Amino acid sequence: VTYAPPGHEITRQFHIETVADVANSRRQGMQIAMDMGFARADATKIAVVISELARNILIYAESGTVTVYGCADLRGTHITVIAEDSGPGIPEIERALTDGYSTSGGLGLGLPGARRLVDEFYIRSKENQGTTVTATKWLH
Ligand SMILES: Nc1ncnc2c1ncn2[C@@H]1O[C@H](COP(=O)(O)OP(=O)(O)OP(=O)(O)O)[C@@H](O)[C@H]1O
Ligand SMILES: [Mg+2]
Repeated sequence: VTYAPPGHEITRQFHIETVADVANSRRQGMQIAMDMGFARADATKIAVVISELARNILIYAESGTVTVYGCADLRGTHITVIAEDSGPGIPEIERALTDGYSTSGGLGLGLPGARRLVDEFYIRSKENQGTTVTATKWLH
C-alpha cells in the first residue's frame, strides 16, 4: 500500500452526460482513492458513491459535473466527491434520502445508500436551479 505524502492534494473534474462518463468517473475515482491509500473495500465504496451521484445527474438533470477532491495533510486523508447539476432540483430532500423513494421507478436506494457509505453527506438543492451533493470519506 502506498500512502500519499503529507500535503498531497488532487482534484479531478468529470463532465457527466453519457453512461460512459459515469463509468469513467467511477473507475478514475476508484483509482484516485487507491492512490490516496484507501483500502480496496473503501475505494469501492467511494466508486459506488461517484457512480450513484453521476447516474442521478444523467437521469434527472441530463448533464452536470462530478469533482473528486483528495487531500492528505496533518488532519488525515479524505476524499470529497461533489456532484453538481443545473437540473430540476430535489423538492423534498428528506424524502429523497428515504430508502425506496424514487420518482423514476428506480429502487430509490442511490442517495440513502451513498449517504451510508461515507462520513459526511450534504445535499443543497433549489427547485429549478439544480442540485449539489457533497460526500466525504476519511481514511481511518
Ligand atoms: N440530481 C438530482 N436532481 C433532481 N432530482 C434528484 C437528483 N438526484 C436524486 N433526485 C431525486 O431523488 C430521488 C431519490 O434518488 P435515489 O438516487 O436515491 O433513487 P433513484 O435514482 O430514484 O433510484 P436508484 O436506486 O436507481 O438510484 C430520485 O428519484 C429523484 O426524484
Ligand atoms: Mg439514483
